[in-house]
Amino acid sequence: MSTFIIQGGFQLKGEIAVGGAKNMATKVLAASLLSDETMHVSRVPEVEDVKRLLEILSSLGVEIKRTAPGEYDLTPKNLDIDRLDYELVGKFRASILLLAPLLVRFKKVRFPQPGGCTIGKRPIDLFIHGLRALGVSVKEGDTYNEFSAKQLVGNRVIFTKVSVTGTETLMLAAVFARGTTTLVNVAQEPEVVALAEYLNSQGARIEGAGSSIMTVIGVEKIKAGNVRVIPDRIEAGSYLALALATKSYLKITDCEPNHLLVPLEMVKKMGATIKVGNDHIEVKPSGTLSAIDIKTHEYPGFVTDMQAPFTVLMTQAKGQSLIHETVFESRLFYTDFLARMGAQVLMCDPQRVLITGPASLSGKRIESPDLRAGMAMVIAGLVAAGETTIDNIYQIERGYSNLVQKLQDIGAAIKRIE
Ligand code: EPZ
Repeated sequence: MSTFIIQGGFQLKGEIAVGGAKNMATKVLAASLLSDETMHVSRVPEVEDVKRLLEILSSLGVEIKRTAPGEYDLTPKNLDIDRLDYELVGKFRASILLLAPLLVRFKKVRFPQPGGCTIGKRPIDLFIHGLRALGVSVKEGDTYNEFSAKQLVGNRVIFTKVSVTGTETLMLAAVFARGTTTLVNVAQEPEVVALAEYLNSQGARIEGAGSSIMTVIGVEKIKAGNVRVIPDRIEAGSYLALALATKSYLKITDCEPNHLLVPLEMVKKMGATIKVGNDHIEVKPSGTLSAIDIKTHEYPGFVTDMQAPFTVLMTQAKGQSLIHETVFESRLFYTDFLARMGAQVLMCDPQRVLITGPASLSGKRIESPDLRAGMAMVIAGLVAAGETTIDNIYQIERGYSNLVQKLQDIGAAIKRIE
């Protein structure tokens, strides 16, 4: 198991370039199965989840060429569903994105119950409900479900909860469905919009992406072509929290500030000194910031993936901040580690914690429970005086590419040991 060792308590200074969004790259790569032409994807983040998905696609027989760092050609020809690597599929949530493309391409697919990390049970009842509405027969088993449909038929699907991958799954399933599909109460994330824009550029007919109602008019087939992954807004937001919490000078480049409007507004309210350009954010040491409440919400609200990094920031702000995690039922337990480091944390219930700051943190041996809480532990380690050891950093490397190098480049004393 690999570990990060951090000597914290120093001011950092420099520039960090943001990589491509993991949560778009994984979806676009899965969508390559909707055509047998070659897809060329650029700005693919070299993170574990993407590597796993590429392994699964190549186990199916997709010809994958890495033409440059972060650039891949995928040619999905002569595929064999029986070669699907089920063990790998069960390992992480993003593999659920293969369900719809495999079903559409092979008319029948057995899919294991989704894997996932510690942020709570990851049901797929909304996926099953939606696919059944499009005429898919679903046999639910203990360890896997069986999906089959000769031809999907357009219908109206009402999501009783907003689901990002649920939205993307039904959107992909509807591309070739006969007739029109209306999806109500869909996710509006930039990654959903980017996926729809790419599919439309290849002949799909998807309207309303980015709003709460999406309409998909079925087509016979689509082509494949060039697609550039959008900047990772969660990575950018994590560095924003890191810079403010460590009172550092940081220029965050190659990002899309328009995907961070709410977090940027919040840090301005806290008194942060930041300058926002069209593809960068400049952060300067801002004295003692004032605490504000955080309530996570589906995009364009304050997204749940930024909750943990911003909670660490609140331990350094003056006053009380109520953190209310509304999306996942157990995405606050990492705050135990913050308390152990000296933060003032009061768990009101599994979805609300009260943070009182500023509190000085001291280095401890901790671990990264999930991807974003793991990044929060790194930020806490950079804030804390002394040495912090973080175990189980695979979780962090699932979503942050060459993090150690990027942090060392701005002066952080961090190293990775096996
Ligand atoms: C996506 O997960 C992201 N992952 C997550 O990012 C992100 O935290 C999440 O959306 C919310 O924004 C990817 O895109 C690969 P959901 P997803 O379905 O789609 C419940 C990261 O850090 N639900 O929007 O799996 C579910 O339990 C990851 O990069 C059902 O009840 O999340 C949750 O409470 C972590 N039934 C809520 O909806 C379903 O059928 C939102 O989940 C599906 C979901």
